Amino acid sequence: MKNIPSYIKEHKERFLNELIELLKIPSISADSAYKSDVLKTAEAIKSCLEKAGCDTVEICPTAGYPIVYGKKTIDKNLPTVLVYGHYDVQPPDPLNLWNSPPFEPVIKTTEKHPDGAIFARGACDDKGQMYMHVKAFEIMVKTNQLPCNVKFMIEGEEEVGSANLGDFVKSNRDKLKNDVILISDTGMIANDTPSITTGLRGLSYVEVEVTGPNRDLHSGLYGGAVANPINILTKMIASLHNENNHITIPEFYDKVEELSTEERTEMAKAPFSLENYKKALDIDAVYGEDGFTTNERNSIRPTLDVNGIWGGYIGEGAKTVIPSKAYAKISMRLVPNQDWQEITKLFTAHFESLAPKGVKVKVTPHHGGQGYVTPISSIGYQAASKAYEQTFGKKPIPQRSGGSIPIVSLFEQELESKIILMGFGLDSDAIHSPNEHFGIWNYLKGIETIPYFYKYFTELSK
Ligand code: BES
Ligand code: MN
Ligand code: MN
Repeated sequence: MKNIPSYIKEHKERFLNELIELLKIPSISADSAYKSDVLKTAEAIKSCLEKAGCDTVEICPTAGYPIVYGKKTIDKNLPTVLVYGHYDVQPPDPLNLWNSPPFEPVIKTTEKHPDGAIFARGACDDKGQMYMHVKAFEIMVKTNQLPCNVKFMIEGEEEVGSANLGDFVKSNRDKLKNDVILISDTGMIANDTPSITTGLRGLSYVEVEVTGPNRDLHSGLYGGAVANPINILTKMIASLHNENNHITIPEFYDKVEELSTEERTEMAKAPFSLENYKKALDIDAVYGEDGFTTNERNSIRPTLDVNGIWGGYIGEGAKTVIPSKAYAKISMRLVPNQDWQEITKLFTAHFESLAPKGVKVKVTPHHGGQGYVTPISSIGYQAASKAYEQTFGKKPIPQRSGGSIPIVSLFEQELESKIILMGFGLDSDAIHSPNEHFGIWNYLKGIETIPYFYKYFTELSK
């Protein structure tokens, strides 16, 4: 491929400014107050895809936020790459912890990003990473080097569980037909250590409610005589892990894949410094399931975490009260073979069984999805590996991630193709946190690397 670095150099300012414009729109899918902004972002993506060179772009309605679909066909006999990404973002709160407003992008340097990083909600997850694909496509089109057909499917509900994407995929199999699905919505080890994500964890997300007396009570008059829902809830939650930090839900681990010693030894070769990890998080020790390393605990092992817990009086000063209700939001990260709906059932049955007499328990499932692993022997993986080698000068390390993109396993099932996860973010980019950012070097490196994926994938498909 010719002139890719020079095209990037020449258009760098525009590539940055276009992304900055997208980042200014607060496309928060979780909060209905931002509905018009989410819809406006879909329109903006449509226009970007048209300008970049798609033959057709449509905004496909769903029961929720629309999916932007674009395509360019150069030859029916050539392979088709389907690019997936999301234009919605997480809510930015807590706002007071941002050093600059989340939807007013600014460029600042950091220790990890000496060339500068764009700070804004969605910079890395996923507007910045999704937009690398639009720009890589533009380069291939404008320099007459597009080696195959391309389809784009950019959704607006990933951060809230992709509730409507499954139906869209199932009813548009033909439209979405492809030879490989390419996604940049994950990370890599470090700028000098490229890696390709070969696994994602699944997810089961539930909300629990414990109800005691029919109203809040005076904690002196009634204290000691009736069940306090917060006391009970915290006791129930505490019992979900044993002293070795194993999850105690019966049958929870039944389908968990046990990796061979060889595979674990191979995984352990990835560069990792426990000291730096602890330092970056300001913790004096890591914590987790006995018998597993930090990298294993957050990739090949399932988890159960409370994401939020509330109830009773939390206002200023003190109020003596036994609350009527207590709540928690709980997520379970799952590994391949664990079925998220089955896990949700196991959780529900177990959690209900933990409730003592005197309280009622309600479990409400939110959303979920299956985990995913992909073999490194596929053409797609090989093409991605060669692409990184080309632009980083190093072979990428295959690595399973702890995060989830719940729709990925459905893609494989419904569209019968492999998914390649070429992420260019860093764990330190603060996705979902205050001060999310994306390195300019990473953004441009992604744009440079993606065209080589197309090239090698097309060559290897012959
Ligand atoms: N892009 C992330 C997932 C991710 C990030 C995977 C980094 C691997 C490395 C995605 O947008 C996300 O946040 N997923 C959610 C699940 C979703 C249902 C809200 C997650 O993992 O919590
Ligand atoms: Mn994402
Ligand atoms: Mn996310």
